[in-house]
Amino acid sequence: MGVNENNRAGAEKKDKGVKPPETTAEVIRALRRNYQDEAVARTYEEVRDFREGDVSLHYETEVLALSEALGGVRGEILEVAVGTGRLCRRLRRFGGGYTGLDVSMQMLSEAKKAVCRDANGPWLVRGDAFQLPFKDNHFEAVVGFRFITHIGPDGRKGVYTELRRVLDDDGILLFDFYGWRRRSAKKTDDERLTVGALRSEVEENGFRLIKVYGTRHVVCDVVSVPFRWLKIRSGVRAAGWLGVKMLSPLDEFFDRSRGGIAVCKKL
Ligand SMILES: C[S@@+](CC[C@H](N)C(=O)[O-])C[C@H]1O[C@@H](n2cnc3c(N)ncnc32)[C@H](O)[C@@H]1O
Repeated sequence: MGVNENNRAGAEKKDKGVKPPETTAEVIRALRRNYQDEAVARTYEEVRDFREGDVSLHYETEVLALSEALGGVRGEILEVAVGTGRLCRRLRRFGGGYTGLDVSMQMLSEAKKAVCRDANGPWLVRGDAFQLPFKDNHFEAVVGFRFITHIGPDGRKGVYTELRRVLDDDGILLFDFYGWRRRSAKKTDDERLTVGALRSEVEENGFRLIKVYGTRHVVCDVVSVPFRWLKIRSGVRAAGWLGVKMLSPLDEFFDRSRGGIAVCKKL
């Protein structure tokens, strides 16, 4: 099934009135089940412009912000819900070792194709983010993108507890979040957070929010248009850099983020 057919299948399911998940347990199960589908795993990067040759402002900005945040990490890094390994391919040079964990064999098998060809590739494991197969205080940093904010506030509580357990006392947790200004009808209220709400939530769960990188600036969008159009990745990265270095502090100050990347320290 091609990408468009795959998307169409999803749209048809919606049209037929398949009931969306409501309880936290249903949301967690649905997220897990969706990525057990081989077609979803195979087309995941193509649909979202995450492939090696794609030029995506959002992806480049995420990599820039994560590279800055992980720059000082010398110990082990864990990426939960690593998916097809799009971030781990770009970040595995950081830290003293990089482990990617995901519950879906289908997503991991895509990750293995792309990431584990070289001897220094990361260690990829199958596992559940709610019950991590690692000992306490093992990692200096944990990265969790497109996962933590998808599972609602109650789901997040369980994940924060488990991630906190495996993080070292000085460890950092990095994850993306959706803001209120994101123009996406697909995001539910449970998935959206203002910076203020995010700060309170992580504090209630044993973390301190130490930095927020805004990743969805209109200015960067506009600056990057010609570079995206001409597929010049260095230009897109420069636009992303502008957002990460210059505009992120404004997001936090005005508490109006359209979404971004949270850097939290274990309390
Ligand atoms: C939207 S994808 C994100 C993949 C990757 N982090 C990224 O940013 O591209 C969500 C991922 O979460 C994984 N996942 C869902 N439930 C999980 C769980 N309970 N434990 C670990 N991984 C899970 C899915 O298999 C899928 O790979």
